[in-house]
Amino acid sequence: VNIPDEALYGFLQNALDERGAQTRQRVLYHALQAAILTGKLQPQSRLPGSRLMAEALGVSRNTMNAALEQLAIEGYLTRSRQGTTVAILPSLPATSNVSCQPVALASRLRQLPSASRRDSPALQLTPGLPATNYFPLPVWRRLLDTVLRREGSLLLGYGDPAGEPRLRGAIARHLALSRGIHCDVSQIVITEGSLEGVRLCTQLLSQAGDVAWVEDPGYPGAKSVFMTAGLQVTGVPVDEEGLSLNMTSAAPTLIFTSPSHQYPLGAVMSASRRLALLDYARQQRAWIIEDDYDSEFRYSGEPVPAMLGMRDSARVVYLGTFSKTLFPSLRIGFMVLPSALAGAVNPVIASLLRGGHRPEQLALAHFIEEGHYARHLAAMRRLYRKRQQALRDALASEMRVAHQVRGGKGGLHLTVILKGVNDYAIIGQARRYQIAPGALSRLYLDPATAQHGLILGYGNTSASLYPGAIRTLNRLIEQTPRGQA
Ligand SMILES: Cc1ncc(COP(=O)(O)O)c(C=O)c1O
Repeated sequence: VNIPDEALYGFLQNALDERGAQTRQRVLYHALQAAILTGKLQPQSRLPGSRLMAEALGVSRNTMNAALEQLAIEGYLTRSRQGTTVAILPSLPATSNVSCQPVALASRLRQLPSASRRDSPALQLTPGLPATNYFPLPVWRRLLDTVLRREGSLLLGYGDPAGEPRLRGAIARHLALSRGIHCDVSQIVITEGSLEGVRLCTQLLSQAGDVAWVEDPGYPGAKSVFMTAGLQVTGVPVDEEGLSLNMTSAAPTLIFTSPSHQYPLGAVMSASRRLALLDYARQQRAWIIEDDYDSEFRYSGEPVPAMLGMRDSARVVYLGTFSKTLFPSLRIGFMVLPSALAGAVNPVIASLLRGGHRPEQLALAHFIEEGHYARHLAAMRRLYRKRQQALRDALASEMRVAHQVRGGKGGLHLTVILKGVNDYAIIGQARRYQIAPGALSRLYLDPATAQHGLILGYGNTSASLYPGAIRTLNRLIEQTPRGQA
């Protein structure tokens, strides 16, 4: 089949006339490719010789040839001594039949708890953000620089899949001093924050259809991971002693809990509950995932020891993170596995993880070894203690509507429980004033039957701003009709 030369030259010339900043070769390539894909150039039709085409279009023969050659390499044209013909391509549906609807998400993904937006550290009272402006950036810059200068390109390959051994050693020593956990480096796996730790526990210890218990209300990140893995997520109520054991619901494979500082209500799990939970996990052959996200910040009494260290051979995987103690975009956390589990996991860990972020991991190891970590923690503990007290004072003086303050004596947030208020409506309006608390109802499995309230993060907001922010929130609560979402 031959196509009329005039028609071919016509559309190629048009494309050349409108080429803008593109090279002639690129324009010819695209124009011919589009003509083939849309059927303007039929399969097996023969093109004129490249010399003729170049002359007719006023381009050099090299340019014409390069465009034709590229199309031949990609399989649009077939070139031989006999000439250049259009290749036979699989037929595509007419463009009018191609759906432009967004791809439908799997039903599991559509049911995920809504995640809070954490777009700017400048927003006031955002939960989960530490005081990023207090982080010793000059020290961090120096350590990163030292590590990169010393190790150079050696650090640019894959690292140990379980994380840099030096960082794991530094974490092991820190845990022994601060969390009562005595473990070997082989029991530690570095993760991209706790969330990846939850994902790994799910992959390693459960399968679709298994039951996962979560605290209700609780951390939405864990629920999302369990749901997407096809686990049956069961909410367990929380009271003043933390997660209340509910033996009547289906036996779990995974139990996710934050015993040192329940998120978001702040309870410290009592010793008797901890021992009962450890025993229950042993009987059921379930695994407890201990989320120790902010326990370094305790403002009364001693730090609460971790569950992992309470009993030998406890069925607990401990998750730690530097997101709250240093800064969240670092994306470095870690899991501590009981030694028997570590023995089983180590041979397969390389199938699940690639050792990356080596400069950051080594810089962090030095940061801990040189004492900067302990110093920063001590300074932040003092700062957050003051901020929590200042926020309590601001709530007492400025929050006129009936409320109840929860959140415990530690961490980076307080939770204010409100009656007859739609928390989701309030947080939507608060953003207009650069205030971004979290909505308590969204941390329950079923927001329809949930308590409402505001999660006020004081980590990254200076205390001088609390009275004004709480006054604004109080006004919004008073003005917002109850049912409005
Ligand atoms: C309850 C809870 N656990 C863990 C984390 C830490 O997550 P990551 O280490 O993935 O940043 C957060 C952060 O918001 C949290 O709120």
